[in-house]
Amino acid sequence: MKEQIGALNALYPSLTTLVGAVVNGRENFIAVAHVGILKHSKNPYLTIALAKVHHTNKGIHDHQAFSVCVPSQKMVEITDYCGLVSGKNTDKSQLFDVFYGETSFAPMIKQCPVCMECTVHDVVDLKSHDIFIGEVKRTHVDPAVLDGKDIDITKVQPLLFDMASKKYFSLGEPVADCWSVGKALKKKD
Ligand SMILES: Cc1cc2nc3c(=O)[nH]c(=O)nc-3n(C[C@H](O)[C@H](O)[C@H](O)COP(=O)(O)O)c2cc1C
Repeated sequence: MKEQIGALNALYPSLTTLVGAVVNGRENFIAVAHVGILKHSKNPYLTIALAKVHHTNKGIHDHQAFSVCVPSQKMVEITDYCGLVSGKNTDKSQLFDVFYGETSFAPMIKQCPVCMECTVHDVVDLKSHDIFIGEVKRTHVDPAVLDGKDIDITKVQPLLFDMASKKYFSLGEPVADCWSVGKALKKKD
């Protein structure tokens, strides 16, 4: 028998990201671990769930654009800081070297190995949260973390977020090949 622990979202660990937006004319960055992969197509989509109290939401609403950057483990301190202080009281615009792609108002972080510039496709207006559905327009990657045309996550060294322990974790070793290891259980015709 399992123990029932109430209605708890148990979908952790999740990827820790830094989301960038321009709020009241100033670049702002927020730590976001509630990111969803919505769809894979020619242009992929993603979701970010931001509590309405945050400063960042206004910038995304105003300009219909934002960035999602993936910090590496060595950026853990500054990433956590972006999740501790609000742009309402603290200027976070000078924390990083910022660059832009072709999407205005989607500031990206040079120090992050992977950055995506997004435009807002839609917003789900919940009582406490804005769920921003973003269309990924362009993805910018450090050549050092590329394996051919693919992003090598072992080189990105992302920060995995766990709500229960409130800790950042790192990737472990690969377990098996996807869409492959299960073939052993397929009935032979
Ligand atoms: C690791 C981490 C992940 C976070 N993920 C989210 C999230 O997914 N959604 C959210 O609304 N807040 C999240 N937060 C909280 C915000 O990052 C934090 O409140 C931030 O200071 C808000 O910044 P802003 O007011 O400048 O927008 C997270 C914080 C940390 C440390």
